[in-house]
Amino acid sequence: MTASTGDPLSPEEAAALGSGASFWTTEETGGAASFWLADGPHGVRKQVGSPDHLGLSASEPATCFPPAVGLAQSWDPELAAEVGAALGREAHAQGVGVLLGPGVNIKRDPRGGRNFEYWSEDPVLTGTLAAAWVRGVQGAGVGTSLKHFAGNEAEHDRMRASSDVDERPLREVYLRAFQRVVEEAQPWTVMAGYNKVNGEYVSANSWLLTDVLRGEWGFTGAVVSDWGAVADRVAAVAAGLDLQMPGPDPDGDAALVAAVGAGRLDADALQRGGRKVRELADRVVAGRRGAATVDVDGHHELARRAAARCVVLLRNDLVGGAPVLPLAPGASIAVIGEFAELPRFQGGGSSHVTPTQVDVPVEQLRDRHTGDVSFVRGFTTDGSGDADALRAEAVAAAGAAQVAVVFVGLAARQESEGFDRVHIELPADQVHLVREVAAVQPRTVLVLSHGGVVRLAPVADVVPAMLDGALLGQGAGAALADVLVGAVNPAGKLAETVPLQLQDVPAYLDFPGEFSRHRYSEGLHVGHRWYDARNLGVTFPFGHGLSYTTFDVTGLEVTAGEEGITATVTVTNTGDRAGREVVQCYVGVPGSAVQRPVRELTGFVGVTLEPGERRPVSVLLGRGDLSYWHPVLQRWVLEPGEYEVHVGVSSRDLRATALVEVRGEEVRLPVSEETTLGELMADPEAAAAVAPMLGALGSGDAGAGLGTDMVRMMASIPIGRLRAFGAGRTAAEDS
Ligand code: BGC
Repeated sequence: MTASTGDPLSPEEAAALGSGASFWTTEETGGAASFWLADGPHGVRKQVGSPDHLGLSASEPATCFPPAVGLAQSWDPELAAEVGAALGREAHAQGVGVLLGPGVNIKRDPRGGRNFEYWSEDPVLTGTLAAAWVRGVQGAGVGTSLKHFAGNEAEHDRMRASSDVDERPLREVYLRAFQRVVEEAQPWTVMAGYNKVNGEYVSANSWLLTDVLRGEWGFTGAVVSDWGAVADRVAAVAAGLDLQMPGPDPDGDAALVAAVGAGRLDADALQRGGRKVRELADRVVAGRRGAATVDVDGHHELARRAAARCVVLLRNDLVGGAPVLPLAPGASIAVIGEFAELPRFQGGGSSHVTPTQVDVPVEQLRDRHTGDVSFVRGFTTDGSGDADALRAEAVAAAGAAQVAVVFVGLAARQESEGFDRVHIELPADQVHLVREVAAVQPRTVLVLSHGGVVRLAPVADVVPAMLDGALLGQGAGAALADVLVGAVNPAGKLAETVPLQLQDVPAYLDFPGEFSRHRYSEGLHVGHRWYDARNLGVTFPFGHGLSYTTFDVTGLEVTAGEEGITATVTVTNTGDRAGREVVQCYVGVPGSAVQRPVRELTGFVGVTLEPGERRPVSVLLGRGDLSYWHPVLQRWVLEPGEYEVHVGVSSRDLRATALVEVRGEEVRLPVSEETTLGELMADPEAAAAVAPMLGALGSGDAGAGLGTDMVRMMASIPIGRLRAFGAGRTAAEDS
């Protein structure tokens, strides 16, 4: 099929293009070629047997790269782009035109069932990594689908519930990541989610699909529905939806044509939808040019390398005067835990990939370690076996070795797309096992595998060393072994806070919601913003991650300019091996006129240094990321005043702070009868003009008899109603 012409489409063609030809393909009509869409995001999931979007049927083998939960821990946009490019090549080779990802919903609550498919609790980290990933995939000539637009932060009731979010958190937290990816990387498609936002289905929400996405952000691609998300096709097309999936939908096609005929749907909207799908088909056809071969082994190596970059060293204490990790060459190691033999490396549901091969952690460790490596299961995840006997065997093995490495975590059936978790505990038998092993073996290392955050307080204090692998894809086993033996120096950083307890999390009382309403009551204070605002202790903070070397971060300098604030620091590798540190910038505006997080991640940069090497690094904290959304003006505002820039290596390990004056915009709202006296008096010119009218009320003494400051008491009165309180009236009027 050659690329289409720009000819107008007949209403029938436009309607047919507006819904799929099958579960995974689009129609070939009106000059548009048919093409495949496939999940995604962390591997190509091309189903050739019976189709489903629940991960039930098998798919063609494809490299299973680290899911977003793991890849986010790299804090490395270049790596995200490299993985994206490899995914693009695989999609291309399998004849897939659009890969259904990335998922950039914010991890509002650790119980979110699909958190493994999302990047972070933070929109700047999410948006930066996802934009790089999109550039990587699309650079290979394959489209992406930015999902699930928007407010789809819970699985519970996801096809009906409304995410009720105030405008500032919606803009500043939840839409921010989408906005960045659209503006920086122009994904070929955006996927309209299942849910409603503030009472209206996203798939029929013209404010989101047309005003914000296309109007404000300049999105030029096609809007695709999530599979089965469209409740009313005519309303959806009118709102800005271009492609309903899956298909076919002949009745819906006919309904669209009839609606145009009856004047209930604008003919231009139907044309727009069809043309957008045809343009998308043209891009896919153009992208198909060139060789489409995949180096399967090379991609497995990349999956391993990427996974290793994502491992977070949570803790590494000294025992007997030396850090427990990396493992001492020649030491005897007792490997314990089912996940060392049957690794958990991806999540369940529509993103589930059939891997090309899977590295087994205990085998990989045996390949790399010079000492004896024994293995016992210690526990099972399916309840089979005698838990006491398995534990006793593990404790004996741990006691007989010089080091114990215990692989714990969540089993696939404990977390998945489609439902949320109800708690964040590790299985009790695993906690029991860890505590007993640690009691007999002072050098106990924990290795964690999980899609959603788990509470670590019950184990964090009993073991001296911990690695967090989250979900790392098919190379997890090799990656973990490389970090354990020190072939790779860990550099990952947490992309989510690990709270002390579930009761501390921002949305604790409002997640997931009930009666089909999900109230985002924590407002702006999502993730690390919440723990800092409430001064709560955490087990491990957002951004945390150690290394086998050490770094100094010194000499912070900040300057403000047209584009934002530039922060420069010098990073020095003060240890004895090469390593990577991620410099994180958190910004607060202490004198802000509006509510703001105490500080929030505004930028970051990674730097790799040889032992003893020192290098200055700069981070631009862009105007957009420093601004807040003004709900009255309906636009972003960069506030003038003093900004506090903190530079650190986690949200709680801040190494330097500097203040900088930013020349922002003094907001002046139009004065109306609804303007309050307080708002008016805050403006010096207006205050001078109205002071005489207020007469005695304007003096601080006026309320003395009432035991109050009259001006402050009256600050909330709209000026249109001041007369009722005597302002500006003459004595004659009063008598
Ligand atoms: C998921 C999407 C996925 C689609 C197709 C839906 O259930 O929410 O993320 O891309 O199915 O499998």
